[in-house]
Amino acid sequence: MTSTTPADESRPAPDAADDYVLRHLAETAVDLTGTVVVLGDRTGELVRGLVTLDESCHPLLITDSYLASRTSGAQLAQVLTTQDEPPERIDVLVVRIPKSLALLEDQLHRLAPRLRPDSMVVGTGKATEIHTSTLTLFEQLVGPTRTSLAVRKARLIFSAPAGRPAEALEPGAPENPWPLRYQLPVDKYLGAAAGRTVVNYAGVFCADRLDIGTRFMLENLPVRRGAERVVDLGCGNGVLGLAAAVANPAARLTFLDESFPAVASARATFAENVPVERYEQAEFVAGDALTPLSTASVDLVLNNPPFHAHRATSDETAWRMFTGARRVLRPGGELWVVANRHLGYHGKLRRVFGNCETVAGNAKFVILRAVRK
Ligand SMILES: C[S@@+](CC[C@H](N)C(=O)[O-])C[C@H]1O[C@@H](n2cnc3c(N)ncnc32)[C@H](O)[C@@H]1O
Repeated sequence: MTSTTPADESRPAPDAADDYVLRHLAETAVDLTGTVVVLGDRTGELVRGLVTLDESCHPLLITDSYLASRTSGAQLAQVLTTQDEPPERIDVLVVRIPKSLALLEDQLHRLAPRLRPDSMVVGTGKATEIHTSTLTLFEQLVGPTRTSLAVRKARLIFSAPAGRPAEALEPGAPENPWPLRYQLPVDKYLGAAAGRTVVNYAGVFCADRLDIGTRFMLENLPVRRGAERVVDLGCGNGVLGLAAAVANPAARLTFLDESFPAVASARATFAENVPVERYEQAEFVAGDALTPLSTASVDLVLNNPPFHAHRATSDETAWRMFTGARRVLRPGGELWVVANRHLGYHGKLRRVFGNCETVAGNAKFVILRAVRK
């Protein structure tokens, strides 16, 4: 997997959930000299806090996010992606509850067999992020589970592998349902993508069905020919890039996403649907916006931009994607964007490219095209 861009040096404000778990570990004098795994630390501050608590602690960070893997705190840990093989044995597992329950389910399935009866498992999150379904996963996959009182709107989860029923690790125990596969509808409007199988690793955008914005883009994909380079930017499970590749057999595809499960999903989706030589020509890149790609190297960028960054609604990433597209496109190259109508990306694209045309629209979505002059 290709990785680029320098570490983000900006430090986030301290967070009540991270503080709470670090205070708990300090007060109970937990031994941090064994294999300490931190799952889902988005800011790097949990890793930094552990190393500050005990300088002999060498945490291992498991993350689904390229950006999280590049924070200055993450540089203090050994980093594994959520797709990598976990360590053989885990003595302390600290979980920052992810916003995706699917990701938590998948990771607990992978990590629980590496816990020993005396391993310590503690989760932390904002009280609003911890639901009955969250606790049920810990209960089923790790062992008897309880929660702390809420402090500054954060709560801890304690799970005891020692009490895990033996059946939990035996044949017949709930199996990891991830990755999920589904077949796109056989529908003439879906064009090249109709009937194709899509593979989804846990945590990928819209893992169990076709997003309606994506669907609208599939119905209106540009018809292009020739040996051009196409980038599926923010590829998710790679369905847009797959459709572009099937429609234009000469196109070379690059799938790019900030999420490691997304890059893995796009890779698996593409492998499932194209001949091996075509698959081998494609690139699958984990990175931020278009920073990994060279200037003026691309003919077409397809993009269904994110508008939630860690729960905040923001168009900051979309902006970076649009300015990045202007940089990587060759003169005459095109950026196609599908977005909610109310986001007003038309004006933004005009500002970045000096032009923008609405290719299609319905009550909810628009498809916009901007050309690199
Ligand atoms: C709305 S989803 C679209 C997914 C897929 N293209 C589709 O249409 O189903 C947006 C995607 O952008 C990705 N993303 C978010 N921030 C990103 C960033 N900074 N750089 C690259 N991709 C990012 C998300 O992980 C997500 O897969």
